[in-house]
Amino acid sequence: MMVDEIGSFWMRSTQRTSYPAATATEADVVVVGGGIAGLCTAWSLARQGRRVVVLEAGRIAEASTGNTTAKVTALHGAVYADLGTENARWYGQSQLAGLAALRAAADALAIDCDWEQRDAYTYAVTDDGADRLREEAAAAAEAGLPAEFVTGTALPYPVTGAVRVGGQAQFHPRRFLLALAADLARLGGRIFEHSRVTEFADGQVTLASGLVLRAADVVVTTGYPVLDRPELYTRLVPKRELVIAAPIPAGSDPHGMFLGVDDDRSVRTAPLPDGGRLLIVTGETYQPGEADVDRRYAALLAWAQERFGISEADYRWSAQDYTTTDGLPFIGRFPGHRHLWVATGFHGWGMTNSMVAATALTGRILGTAAPDWADLYDPHRLHPFAEAPGLVKAAASVAKNLVGARFTKPDRTVEELAPGQGAVVRADGKRCAAYRDDAGQVHAVEASCTHLGCIVGFNDAERTWECPCHGSRFDVDGTVLQGPALKPLPRIDLR
Ligand SMILES: Cc1cc2nc3c(=O)[nH]c(=O)nc-3n(C[C@H](O)[C@H](O)[C@H](O)COP(=O)(O)OP(=O)(O)OC[C@H]3O[C@@H](n4cnc5c(N)ncnc54)[C@H](O)[C@@H]3O)c2cc1C
Ligand code: FES
Repeated sequence: MMVDEIGSFWMRSTQRTSYPAATATEADVVVVGGGIAGLCTAWSLARQGRRVVVLEAGRIAEASTGNTTAKVTALHGAVYADLGTENARWYGQSQLAGLAALRAAADALAIDCDWEQRDAYTYAVTDDGADRLREEAAAAAEAGLPAEFVTGTALPYPVTGAVRVGGQAQFHPRRFLLALAADLARLGGRIFEHSRVTEFADGQVTLASGLVLRAADVVVTTGYPVLDRPELYTRLVPKRELVIAAPIPAGSDPHGMFLGVDDDRSVRTAPLPDGGRLLIVTGETYQPGEADVDRRYAALLAWAQERFGISEADYRWSAQDYTTTDGLPFIGRFPGHRHLWVATGFHGWGMTNSMVAATALTGRILGTAAPDWADLYDPHRLHPFAEAPGLVKAAASVAKNLVGARFTKPDRTVEELAPGQGAVVRADGKRCAAYRDDAGQVHAVEASCTHLGCIVGFNDAERTWECPCHGSRFDVDGTVLQGPALKPLPRIDLR
């Protein structure tokens, strides 16, 4: 597969940011995590006159947000038929409100972010899928979306049916967010990068640097919440997705945003400076730590080549998002705390959900009325019947990777690793995660994730270690690339 390098189109078509490391010691509200959820929430609070500080472990608008596909829609695959009439109505209202709020912000600040109005489609390629989508179209329409069931789309391959929702949108997420961050600074908000939070309490956070920052309220928007509470971590499941992108002639643009309900594929396009369009194809969803990521990229490319006639991918990237066991995000008060708040579990739909979170959390923190739909997302909710299958599946997966993997004997030795390969092996009587670089040198680290101890797996495309349980990611030298783990995997000297 010919690709210049791994990296998203959004990242490679914008400048990287360079905000300073944290120096502030107090604020009205501290927002931990500078992705789209954190930035939208911070901006919304700053507009209401709150002194806001954003603390970002790396750089803002990178992580999941810099590697998204940025469809801004209330049509989220096929969810409405399963939500029940009342919840579906709250869900639809809130997601349409999230879309409108993003649009209003882009308009108010005149942000040049390639905002394009598009119809959103969830399509099927099987008869069973089409039956499901007939029900979904009816449920989404009842929930207030301009939804209808259609039998054809402008995609260059046949579908058995689709839900179409008009008036949705797509944009360039980083262009939008870098401008939103600049406006946040204009409103008096302070953004700090390279400022990892390691401890939380009501009223204060402590950074890896030792700095303590006090605030009346703290909002955690770190994807997986770095503050562990069993009420949340047992109900959040990480999923990684791969993306490839390649130019297509403007005449081949299917003019819409498409998601397959039964083929794990998503399609949109974006404008290119030369007047052409960039085809962006997503799919091959997997649990972090599963093997064969390179093969999955190849499968995604082959799929796009066959259907859209592209030759190679100019870009490829991947990222992860979190799903809750009942499919609804967690937005609200952090269980067990009064002034600690959380927004996560967006289920692959963080664009609208970030403005949903910004609106709900601003209302809660200011003590003004939160919208009627805000209770739907309360992290304290428990839907025992709806959640039972998801909870059992999540618990079984953690048990498999925490306990089961310890008793599974590694089937490879260090000597068997070819350059570029990594695996959990037994060496010097110890289980370790070993990677052989292109020059033949072996880099070994402990295989137990420093979060809660699950055994990591190797991502051969990105050459990283990934934890299947809650999605922590590590460089081959053990450095933390993505939490919830806060500590690196200890190095092992195999000599
Ligand atoms: C491939 C893919 C395609 C997607 N496509 C769409 C789409 O088309 N439409 C849509 O609506 N959604 C989509 N999503 C989902 C969407 O991208 C995410 O839901 C959204 O970006 C999540 O934003 P966030 O702010 O919660 O997380 P992030 O963007 O991951 O931000 C969290 C931030 O917290 C920081 N952080 C972590 N730990 C700490 C700490 N201890 N201290 C300080 N900071 C910390 C991280 O560095 C990071 O910057 C997609 C997701 C993927 C993976
Ligand atoms: S991320 Fe939780 S155990 Fe690894």
